[in-house]
Amino acid sequence: MLGVKVPKKEGEKARRKLLELGILDKSYKVKQEGEFLVFPVKAPIEGFEIVEADFEKAEKKPHSYREVVKVPEEVRSLLPSSFDIIGDIAIIELPEELVQYGKQIGEAILKVHKHIKAVFAKGSKISGEFRVRELIHLAGEKRTETLHKENGIKLKLDVARVYFSPRLATERMRVFKKAKEGEIVFDMFAGVGPYSILLAKKVRLVFACDINPWAVKYLEENKRLNKTLNVIPILGDVRKVAGQIKADRVIMNLPKFAHEFLREAMLSVKSGGIVHYYGFSHEDNLFGEHEEKIKTVARELGKRVEFLERRKVRPYAPYQYNIAIDFRVL
Ligand SMILES: C[S@@+](CC[C@H](N)C(=O)[O-])C[C@H]1O[C@@H](n2cnc3c(N)ncnc32)[C@H](O)[C@@H]1O
Repeated sequence: MLGVKVPKKEGEKARRKLLELGILDKSYKVKQEGEFLVFPVKAPIEGFEIVEADFEKAEKKPHSYREVVKVPEEVRSLLPSSFDIIGDIAIIELPEELVQYGKQIGEAILKVHKHIKAVFAKGSKISGEFRVRELIHLAGEKRTETLHKENGIKLKLDVARVYFSPRLATERMRVFKKAKEGEIVFDMFAGVGPYSILLAKKVRLVFACDINPWAVKYLEENKRLNKTLNVIPILGDVRKVAGQIKADRVIMNLPKFAHEFLREAMLSVKSGGIVHYYGFSHEDNLFGEHEEKIKTVARELGKRVEFLERRKVRPYAPYQYNIAIDFRVL
């Protein structure tokens, strides 16, 4: 076979060049020869020393846990193609037929994704006021606290005690980009602070409220971790503080019940301020019903609303979407 021979200290540079040219043969292992490295290549190339060499076959690394998991063939097609990763914890949704193979699935995930240390299965739907779900331990450490990084911030949280979805990272960045320096933000349903901490990097002040004591405990810890002293955590029912805060921007990330808190949101936003509203909808009527409710509450309060943007955030269930509506209150 053909090889490219380079001094060890030039190895990384050469590897990148060969990759860029598409001639590195990744099905063979790179060879060490004293102070030199020999790269297996598919064709000769000018500017490098070309040698004839024998190379060992490289082991093919599996890309997905589905390539290594041991389950009967008849259920293989039911294996989920994706799962959530929060910090070093994986959370997978298993169809009923796969529940009995949970341990094997968990172990396969740990084998393929070395940075994952614990695997859990979703044990229930998200429910209750705190918006949490039951988790079933499948493999690895029996630990539910982790450190998640997203959008350049660190978030410590306990996946069993608080709500957190890594799938909203893009949406949070979208709101961050809209926010302006000098603003006061009111995050009505803050959780452990993925919006609040991120926005605090840009705006003047963030009031971050949550009714779940565990969420507020982590929010306080995340405020310290990220040195965002301009976040004011508030533990309690947002109904009790709404109206006392006058914000330029209000975030209503409680899609299941946000419509019940529109009055509180509109009373907490300055005239001309913006509300980021979230909801769940059927694909046949994504925004209409939500917008009617928004207009009704505004009318009751003697206010007007101007709709700025509507978008699908992510699919939520068959034919259902998590949607976002941004509106200005006048
Ligand atoms: C869907 S989670 C969103 C958390 C966070 N914004 C995020 O993106 O991860 C909604 C949060 O609202 C909180 N919550 C529910 N009802 C509330 C209320 N009446 N007052 C304050 N917080 C509430 C829950 O505890 C939960 O943490």
